[in-house]
Amino acid sequence: MTTPDPRPTLAILISGRGSNMVAISKACLNGELDARVALVISNRPDAPGIQAARDMGIDTAVIDHKAFASREQFDNAMHERLAEVQPDWIVLAGFMRILTGDFVNRWQGRMLNIHPSLLPKYPGLDTHARAIAAGDLQAGASVHIVSPELDAGPVVAQVRVPIEPDDTPDSLAQRVLQEEHALYIKALQLCVGRKD
Ligand code: GRF
Repeated sequence: MTTPDPRPTLAILISGRGSNMVAISKACLNGELDARVALVISNRPDAPGIQAARDMGIDTAVIDHKAFASREQFDNAMHERLAEVQPDWIVLAGFMRILTGDFVNRWQGRMLNIHPSLLPKYPGLDTHARAIAAGDLQAGASVHIVSPELDAGPVVAQVRVPIEPDDTPDSLAQRVLQEEHALYIKALQLCVGRKD
């Protein structure tokens, strides 16, 4: 008889590259994070991250938002797939769909997102271009609890990154992304628990 795995479970939602998902999954594998990735879902069939998850031996699902007539129907399909796994936490990592209030309320308090700005500054898109245009000296990233309002839930952890005089949105995004990986692992350690 096999002993059930007692670690808390994560379901990670992605839409693209999936570098945060890979960093979190590696941290689970090497014990830095006391959790197990039970499922990775992508809303885009061609997301490179979905293959990266498969390569790590993680269960994956593609739920293509284009196959649904409404946001509600897509969210219901996501909810049903997630309910099969019953994750302790849902981790949004570059998931580029706005979720309905109903969906968020069903998982309220158990869903985290990473956003590439120092929230409450710059919710929404083009965060790095907006920070540079505003003449900010610092950019960064925030991990927050997801609430029905976009990028507005309580912040769990933040990292600050200096903006250099010659930064472009792309160069800044690359530097912030490197910090995002460690930040997300730290935030998950706080929320989910850590093996000592
Ligand atoms: C990250 O910059 C994250 O903050 C934002 O989308 C990007 C996702 O990157 N929400 P990746 O797919 O994790 O590589």
